Amino acid sequence: MARDLEPTLELARERAEMLRRELETHNYRYYVLDDPVIPDAQFDKMMRELEKIEKQFPSLVTPYSPTQRVGGKPREGFTTVRHLMPMLSLSNAFNENELRDFDRRVRQAIPGETVEYVVELKIDGLAVSLYYENGVLLRGATRGDGETGEDISENLKTVRSVPLRLRRPVPGLEVRGEAYMSKESFARLNEAREEVGEPLFANPRNAAAGTLRQLDPRVTASRRLDLFVYSIGYSEGVNPAGHAAVLSLLKELGFKVNPEYRLFSNLDEVIDYCHHWQTRRFNLPYAIDGLVLKVNSMSLQEKLGATMKSPRWAIAYKFPAEQAISTVRNIFVRVGRTGALTPTAELDPVRLAGTTVSRATLHNEDNIKEKDIRIGDRVLVQKAGDIIPEIVSVLPEKRTGSEVVWSMPFECPACGSNVMRAGGEAAARCTGIACPERLWEGLVHFASRNAMDIEGLGPAVIAQLLSARLIADPSDLYTLRYDDLKPLERLGPKSIRNLLGAIEASKDASLARLVFALGIRHVGERAAKILAGHYESLDRLMFATQEELLSIPEIGAKIAASVVAFFSSEQNRKVIKKLVEAGVNTHAKKNGHSEGGRILEGKVIVLTGVLKDLSRRQAQELIETMGGRVSSSVSSNTDFVIVGENPGSKYNKALSLGVTILGETEFNELINRKGNKLTPLI
Ligand code: IVH
Repeated sequence: MARDLEPTLELARERAEMLRRELETHNYRYYVLDDPVIPDAQFDKMMRELEKIEKQFPSLVTPYSPTQRVGGKPREGFTTVRHLMPMLSLSNAFNENELRDFDRRVRQAIPGETVEYVVELKIDGLAVSLYYENGVLLRGATRGDGETGEDISENLKTVRSVPLRLRRPVPGLEVRGEAYMSKESFARLNEAREEVGEPLFANPRNAAAGTLRQLDPRVTASRRLDLFVYSIGYSEGVNPAGHAAVLSLLKELGFKVNPEYRLFSNLDEVIDYCHHWQTRRFNLPYAIDGLVLKVNSMSLQEKLGATMKSPRWAIAYKFPAEQAISTVRNIFVRVGRTGALTPTAELDPVRLAGTTVSRATLHNEDNIKEKDIRIGDRVLVQKAGDIIPEIVSVLPEKRTGSEVVWSMPFECPACGSNVMRAGGEAAARCTGIACPERLWEGLVHFASRNAMDIEGLGPAVIAQLLSARLIADPSDLYTLRYDDLKPLERLGPKSIRNLLGAIEASKDASLARLVFALGIRHVGERAAKILAGHYESLDRLMFATQEELLSIPEIGAKIAASVVAFFSSEQNRKVIKKLVEAGVNTHAKKNGHSEGGRILEGKVIVLTGVLKDLSRRQAQELIETMGGRVSSSVSSNTDFVIVGENPGSKYNKALSLGVTILGETEFNELINRKGNKLTPLI
């Protein structure tokens, strides 16, 4: 038996290795060279095949497999690592004279030598170190205090431009570089944080640092960091003679090296190059805060040496912070997705960091109060991370006395609903579910896969429905007819029928999905499940009191307050009434199973293989609504394993541990027997 398996394992090993090489090459082309040669779908297909092989033959998984980029589970904390060589910092020059002083010091220390400088962009991110042995990434760490840093390997592996394996093996190599977040990702991240009332990152560097120190690598993966590599800290088997050669070697090995570095042999050219970037930096997709000059020759670097803190062969030229003075003409509020009201200043247009700025975010009420910003004030403006204009401070000496103190409106400017500010939160919010400003985002959430799962009802279609005034709240979706949709652009007869079918089908969604879909603040998927399981009907949930909600395990004060506030809105209650009238399920029952029956209470269940009737997600949901928990691995604590077609290694593990195994039919029988105890069947 074991012998029969060997040829298959060998074939699988070869195939897996081939797929890994292919995937590495395409990953490199896409994320490092920015020059993809195959469509994403083809990449995904190869990835799925590799995942399948590795699932079937877990012994074939390698630490550098592209499947391992987001493998890690949330951690308790990071371990400390000592750097092989200290990671030094740079001394700074703030103007041309200080650069000339640096050049003079260098030349005096090594008289008679020809000095060449490599000049690089100084990326505004976070220094990290990556250690490879025989070409395989073993560890990634933060700079920390220069001597010791934190082991953030799992997080760095999620960065797609970090090679998990080098394009050519080198016995030992420690490289250093700057992890950073692009201006676009930074802006998007802050926008999302502002919406949910989380503190904003002041610049991309803080955002990158916060992201790399995330304990859950899945969060890091979702935030899209990138990495430019700029030096070698330690090496065995390679020994380039100059810094420019180091950069070429790093490129050759598969790292992303910033392409804007230049080699100069005289300082005037260096200074010109620095000035060149002073204005052009605003066109870059990532933030830089200056340039770095490095003596090219490695032997001269060695001769020059270092002080305790920084090398004598390098210096950072720092750009002056770009600020401008303008006048606050007015303050208005924008309403965001979750109803967050963001005060925004209208400014007299002013040139700043490459663009004309006429608005600045004021973030929230507290920020305005702290800085005492009034309408009519002269203010100092700068861009956070080169991109989001904000007010640094007011210039009180310019006040005339006619300035007007601003305060947050009590009513939403878009719909007139009450504005609420929950204790401990920075953001004030509109409480109206049918607020037109919130509507679009709210509907996108309502229809999304984890909520009502209405396929075909994406952001674009929702925008069309709204602008044609066919819908004004989620309940209107259920009254749409074929003829209503016919005039819409880009919707053919088939898509219309599919869409109406999907809307109809969503009426049967579980109560937990509906509660999640309503978009109640702080009520995520898990809280929605708990609430649905506890109350078993929307009616009962609607009349829940704060005390009652607080008595439910895992429901805290924030959620309780938000649920009560949500259902106390007359507008929200109206929408819910219409949902009920349209026939949307508001009870904890689905497919005849009693959600409240909880016949799987406390059971730990593992799924393996492909189920015919249910997707993984559906099966998991079903098990959870019946009180069970789905686990990803089989152990002696597993109560039973449900086996579909082509089961993976979990099946064998279950056999060897003697865990009860159920086929799909048996599972269906089990859950269809309402009220049955588990014992008779298993
Ligand atoms: S070289 C000993 N090159 O700037 C030399 N640093 O203040 C170490 N940085 O900690 C750094 N871009 O985080 C170097 N092209 C570049 C850089 C760069 C950004 C950062 C790095 C370093 C800090 C120095």
